[in-house]
This record gives sequence, structure tokens and C-alpha cells, in this order.
Amino acid sequence: MIEVRGLTKRYGEVLAVNDLNFSVRPGEVTGFLGPNGAGKSATMRMILGLDAPTSGTATVGGRAVAEHPVPMRAVGALLDAGAVLASRSAYHHLLALAASNGLPRGRVDAVLEEVGLSGVARRAAGTYSLGMRQRLGIAGALLGDPPVLVLDEPLNGLDPEGIVWIRRLMRRMAGEGRAVMMSSHLMSEVELTVDHLVVIGRGRLIADTGMAEFIASVGGREVVVRTPQAASFAGRLAAVGAAVRTGEEGELVVTGLDAEHIGVLAAATEVELHKLAPRQTSLEEAFMELTQDSVEYSAEGEAA
Ligand SMILES: Nc1ncnc2c1ncn2[C@@H]1O[C@H](COP(=O)(O)OP(=O)(O)O)[C@@H](O)[C@H]1O
Ligand SMILES: [Mg+2]
Repeated sequence: MIEVRGLTKRYGEVLAVNDLNFSVRPGEVTGFLGPNGAGKSATMRMILGLDAPTSGTATVGGRAVAEHPVPMRAVGALLDAGAVLASRSAYHHLLALAASNGLPRGRVDAVLEEVGLSGVARRAAGTYSLGMRQRLGIAGALLGDPPVLVLDEPLNGLDPEGIVWIRRLMRRMAGEGRAVMMSSHLMSEVELTVDHLVVIGRGRLIADTGMAEFIASVGGREVVVRTPQAASFAGRLAAVGAAVRTGEEGELVVTGLDAEHIGVLAAATEVELHKLAPRQTSLEEAFMELTQDSVEYSAEGEAA
């Protein structure tokens, strides 16, 4: 469990993290989302004890990471996949990490196996592809077999195969009861992966919610209807409680009634339908809408 309370970080003039409060629970993958510069990495560095908060606290398993006897057993982190000596092999990189953190060397082979690098473990890391370096970074995060994982943009720059692999790994880790926190600046990356969302914009919390509730909060399902009898059918729809607005090319955009019931109503009233298309508000749209508000709010706040 990660608990962030009143967390704030100022870098000179920049308020990078502004009074954040949220938790990352065991058994779930929590997506930590926000546009570039929102303060995701700064927050994660403070959770990991790599940067000191200006005020507030971030704890892992009830205390600051530095207060754990062996921090790598409390939390595993992936921050920058490039941060490995190019001349060193994956095996020796992990062996050094294990030795300096008092972890048994048997864990090295275990995590190499887990991330599928056993076959290339003796090669210099400088020869690795981005995907292989990312796997090595994950191996390092898993070395202490921690109950909490903090992964900063783990899907960045990966090929589709690598993305699928990391998604499955995160799901598996959550399935084992671990708390998994992954950041991303792209909604489309987390849509298939996360159970819970923490969205920030300009350092401030915008949303802390389950995935389904997040989508619903921004509008939910709409059904697009095209008919030559638009005006009269809009009246019929409104009469049964649906909300109707006019979309592109005179189409009706209906909320509060599903496509099946709209079709039944059309048939019953002999309305000719040329289109009846359910349209789920995508997470990307919801994200843009929410973060747009936060940017405007912040801009006004600074101007004042
Ligand atoms: N070490 C630092 N010194 C000064 N400013 C920083 C530093 N780290 C981050 N920032 C600033 O804090 C804000 C948040 O950055 P960051 O946490 O990296 O955002 P994100 O990871 O969401 O893209 C940005 O405006 C960034 O320029
Ligand atoms: Mg970042």
C-alpha cells in the first residue's frame, strides 16, 4: 500500500506537485496519469525516497521507504530503463544490486527467468534493445520480491510485443496481491491494464476513481441516431426521458437510452432510421476533457 498525504514539491518557481492525496492499494494496478510535466515522475521519486517533499508525506507499507531495513524488499522501482552501465551484463548488474542490498544471489537467476532474459544475461547491457533494457529494469524492480511496484512510464517506446508482456506482468503482479502503480501520459496505454486511476494535472489531483466510474463521470454512453424525421423523433425521445442534442449533419446524439430501446421506439412510431450507433466515450476523450479543465484552472490561478 502506498499512501500519499498532502504531498507537495516546489522546484524554485515551479510547484511540480501540489497537495496530492491518494492511495495505491494491494491487488490492483493503479494508473497514474497526466500530461507531460504534470508531476508524475516527481511524485514517484518522493514515494521512493529519492527526492524530499517540500511538505506532506509519502509512505510505503506505513513508513517512508528509507525507514525500511531493506528498501528493495518493500518496493520495486522502474524509473529510467537506460540507467545501466553499458559494459555490464544483465547478470552482473543484478548481482551487484543484490549484493549491495543484502538480497540472496539466488534471486538474480529467479528474476532473469521471470523477465525472460536468462538466455542473454551474460551479454553487455549496451547491446540490448530498448525492450530488453526495460525487462532488465523490471528484473531489478522484482529483485527484492516486493509487495509494491512503482513503474514510471514502463510502456514508453516499447514495441507491441513488449507492451503486451509488461501489461501481463503487471496484471499478474496485482493478481498475486501486490500494489502496482504505473504512470503514463497516454490514456490509450492504460485503458486495458489498470483497475484504478489517479489523474493529475499541473501537480494537482483531478480524479481518483475506478476505470468504469471515470468514463461514466465524463458522459457515459451515447447513441448516434440519423433519421429524416429528426425533429419529431427528438421530441419522442425526450418524452421517454432521454437527453437529446443535435450532432454533426443533423444527427441526434442520445444519452440515457440504449440503442435497443431507441430502435424499439422508432419501430413503434414508424420512424425511418438511417443510423443507430452506440458510441462509448473513450478514455482518451475523458482524459483530454479532465486535464484540459485543470490546465485552464491553473492558468487562471497563476494569472490572478
Ligand atoms: N529536478 C527538477 N528541477 C526543476 N524542475 C523540475 C525538476 N523535476 C521536475 N521539474 C519540473 O516539475 C514539473 C513536473 O515534472 P515531472 O514530474 O517530470 O512531470 P511528468 O513526469 O508528469 O512529465 C515540470 O514542470 C518539470 O519541469
Ligand atoms: Mg515523467
